[in-house]
Amino acid sequence: MKAVIIGCGAIASRWVRSLLADRRVEITALVDPDQQAAQALAARYGLNPAFATTLPGALALAEADVVVNLTPPELHYPVSRSALAQGLHVLTEKPLALNLPDALDLVHLARERGLLLAVMHNRGTDPDFLAFADTVHSRSRAPFAITADSLVTLPGPGFRAGQHLPVTTDLAIHAFDQVRVLITAPPTEVICTETATGFLAAHSSIATVTVHFADGSLFTYRGGYIVDPALRTDAGGDWRVESRGFAARWTPDPHRARNAPEAGPPAYQRCITAMVDALHQDHPLPVPAADNLPSIALLDAALTSAAHRRPVPVPEVPHGRH
Ligand SMILES: NC(=O)c1ccc[n+]([C@@H]2O[C@H](COP(=O)([O-])OP(=O)(O)OC[C@H]3O[C@@H](n4cnc5c(N)ncnc54)[C@H](O)[C@@H]3O)[C@@H](O)[C@H]2O)c1
Repeated sequence: MKAVIIGCGAIASRWVRSLLADRRVEITALVDPDQQAAQALAARYGLNPAFATTLPGALALAEADVVVNLTPPELHYPVSRSALAQGLHVLTEKPLALNLPDALDLVHLARERGLLLAVMHNRGTDPDFLAFADTVHSRSRAPFAITADSLVTLPGPGFRAGQHLPVTTDLAIHAFDQVRVLITAPPTEVICTETATGFLAAHSSIATVTVHFADGSLFTYRGGYIVDPALRTDAGGDWRVESRGFAARWTPDPHRARNAPEAGPPAYQRCITAMVDALHQDHPLPVPAADNLPSIALLDAALTSAAHRRPVPVPEVPHGRH
């Protein structure tokens, strides 16, 4: 499969490392309006791609089967849409889109054209987190009271320095992917606030999100782009779960990779391998991004709530083949 990478910023290194480890993929072009970023990425990994500033520019220079969309979140929908419209498969960074109608449009288009559409959801598929969720479900019953803190520092904030509501837009989606594993009842309402703390750094901001669920469960999330590493949590979050007669806590074990190499590759690499496996599946190709639509429904409600400063009902994801 010939891949065009669109967006050559901080996360692109992680993708290129994983893709280069998979002999089924060849990177034929790098696209970024910042050509220095694209050239630096190629030099770092010894790539010899075509360089372009747009997808049509790349397609004029190089062959492609699949687009890897690593642009800032508000570009995910237009970039993925234009790739699908040109008959290319799409692997995209999270979030799939910033609202449910756009995400549904991408899923419809991928299905209509028989193309793969897959979105990164590394936190919600972390094997340790899934094991924690299994423990919760085997030992307790809904309704749950769940809190999660995710306070993250960034060496290079990139697009986040100019992003409106950067925590809700970029970070909270991980927690939405995760909480859906713990609470399976439909979410009903979201109350979200986000306040920039620009006196710390241009991208600093703190968000709170409260989600009510149909079974009475409650989830409260506090996310932030902070500055002092001494105060950070793991990006996987610090989770507390209570139900009647049950209490548990989870945060990623920073020594896991060292202590348990047999645990296999990290969730990030596993997600990319699963995406490439899906690309090589027999037709019709699956549209795994459809499974992520409930997270986009939460994101949609959270962004609306933060913008209008009021509680917002969670839009319903249509059943069936969407
Ligand atoms: N899954 C994860 O754990 C994880 C971690 C970090 C980032 N991400 C996601 O990856 C994406 C990129 O994040 P990042 O940290 O690399 O950001 P970044 O700001 O470092 O990089 C973004 C790049 O996109 C480029 N770009 C901007 N407009 C473009 C356009 N029209 N066409 C092509 N390229 C364009 C920028 O020039 C920049 O090089 C975001 O969606 C973010 O949410 C995911």
